[in-house]
Amino acid sequence: MQVTGKIVVVTGGANGIGRALCEAFHRAGATKVIVADVDGAGARAVAASVDGAAFKCDVGQEKDIRHVIEETEHQFGPIALFCSNAGIGGGFDPLSVNAGGTSDEPFAKSWAIHVMAHVYAARHLVPRFKARGEGYFLNTISAAGLLSQVGGAAYATTKHAAVGFAENLAISHKAHGIKVSILCPQGVDTDMLRSLPKGPQSGDGDLSPAQVAKDALEGIARETFLILPHLQVLTYMRNKTENYDRWIGGMAKIQAKLREDYEK
Ligand SMILES: NC(=O)c1ccc[n+]([C@@H]2O[C@H](COP(=O)([O-])OP(=O)(O)OC[C@H]3O[C@@H](n4cnc5c(N)ncnc54)[C@H](O)[C@@H]3O)[C@@H](O)[C@H]2O)c1
Repeated sequence: MQVTGKIVVVTGGANGIGRALCEAFHRAGATKVIVADVDGAGARAVAASVDGAAFKCDVGQEKDIRHVIEETEHQFGPIALFCSNAGIGGGFDPLSVNAGGTSDEPFAKSWAIHVMAHVYAARHLVPRFKARGEGYFLNTISAAGLLSQVGGAAYATTKHAAVGFAENLAISHKAHGIKVSILCPQGVDTDMLRSLPKGPQSGDGDLSPAQVAKDALEGIARETFLILPHLQVLTYMRNKTENYDRWIGGMAKIQAKLREDYEK
């Protein structure tokens, strides 16, 4: 799909990868870029820079997602592409003292933002996309949803669930003309990455948000399900499926090295 002449929504568009997506869609000639973010002032600033529109929205709340979709279609016209991109990096512990953590909080918050937000977007857009015989979901997930995230049990678990939901969304609605892509980078140089303990997510080098947005646009143009800005991830996925136990052993060595570094 080409975004030229299309209406596009980006959640988490006030910063980082989302902001770069908004800018790339605008440069590619999207008619209207809708910036939806819990940071209302940030969303308005990005919207102003791309001649778009802003919504303050918490993607973990169904009513907020429904409002963004209904108001966008009412004010501007049919949404062609909905990018569920908002995410959080809570609950990281490089020592991994206990993968189960000490409270539900990081799991519940990550579940709402990384998974239910994608479910709500589908719940309210699939009927519209089906009626039109077309529509596109781009879900920013992470290589952590395909491999894992050392020191980030809540992040890795919910990102895996996001991959699972996107697969099912694509399978359920291919026959209805609905397209789905998942964007799964490793380290990207954003506020989120800078707020986390340094770790193996940066092992293959951090990409700029602009580079990741460029890769996303190319992936959407090709209409491929899996968009991998770090190509190494494909090799790691192959290693994982080829020998799961060897892969767990390798990841555990990375965890051990991280513990050693942080305990120094
Ligand atoms: N930075 C990385 O290294 C990296 C790697 C892989 C995947 N990702 C994923 O990319 C996406 C974007 O991350 P980023 O690095 O640009 O982070 P970022 O912190 O720079 O930007 C995230 C944006 O999401 C918004 N947001 C957070 N919670 C929200 C909520 N409940 N409702 C609406 N908006 C909310 C924030 O206000 C912010 O504008 C996330 O899903 C993240 O998990 C990031």
